[in-house]
Amino acid sequence: MNKTLLVAGNWKMNKGLKESEDFLSQLSKNVSEAQQKQVLLFPQSPLLYAMSLQLKNTKIRFGSQNVYHEEQGAYTGEISPLLLKELRASASLVGHSERREIFKETDEEIALKVRSLQNQNLIPIFCIGESLEQREAGNTFKILEQQLKIGLQHLDLSKEIVIAYEPVWAIGTGKVATPEIAQEAHAFIRSFLKESWGAEFADSISLLYGGSVKPDNAKELGAQEDINGFLIGGASLDVDSFTEIISYCGA
Ligand code: PGA
Repeated sequence: MNKTLLVAGNWKMNKGLKESEDFLSQLSKNVSEAQQKQVLLFPQSPLLYAMSLQLKNTKIRFGSQNVYHEEQGAYTGEISPLLLKELRASASLVGHSERREIFKETDEEIALKVRSLQNQNLIPIFCIGESLEQREAGNTFKILEQQLKIGLQHLDLSKEIVIAYEPVWAIGTGKVATPEIAQEAHAFIRSFLKESWGAEFADSISLLYGGSVKPDNAKELGAQEDINGFLIGGASLDVDSFTEIISYCGA
C-alpha cells in the first residue's frame, strides 16, 4: 500500500485504567514513531487524563467518544470541549451510530458538536452511515446526503474535520462491507464534499471506513481509492490485532 492511513480505535464502554495503561505501553513499543502519528484512540472519558499523561512522550493522539456543544455551565453529565483541549486531546467522535440510536442524537445536535469542536481546534470525527433497512430500501445515498447536509451545516472550512463512513449493519456484527460497497459510499461522500465546497476541500478530507474492520480485511479495504483510514471498535481492544492493522496502513 503506498498511502498512509489514519487508524482510529473506538474502545466504546470497554477497558478500565489498568487495561488501558497496559495496552498503551505495549502499543507504544509495538509501533514506530511514524506509525504512532497515524493512531488516534477514543477511551471512556474518565480515562482521558491518565491517557494524556501516559502518551505525553509519544506521537499517539487521543480523544473522547462524545462532547457537548456548549463550552461550560449547568449541563450535568456532559463533556466540555474546553476540558478536552486542556487535557491535550486532539479529537472527539461525533454522531456515532450508537449515540444516534441509543441516545437519540439528532443531526442538528451533531452539527452543533462539530462546530464546538472546531471552535477549539479539536478534530471532529464525524460519523455517518445507513441502517440495513435503509440500504435494502435503496435509500443509502439519500440518508448519507441528509446526514452530511445537516450535520455539516456549521462547518468551518478553515478547520480540520475527518468523516467516518460506518454502515450500521456492519458495526459489531462481523459483517464487513465489501471493498466495493465501502468505496462506492466513500466516493459518494467525496463527491458531495466536492459539490458543496470544492475539489481542494474534498480532496483534503480523510474519509475513514468503520464496521467490523479486522486484520484480515484491512489491507483490501485500505487499498480502495477513497478510503483514508479506519475507525475500529472490536479489533482496537486487542493490542495485537490493532498493531497488525496499523502495520498494513503505510508509514
Ligand atoms: P466494530 O465497531 O469495529 O466493532 O464494528 C466500529 C465502530 O463502532 O466504530
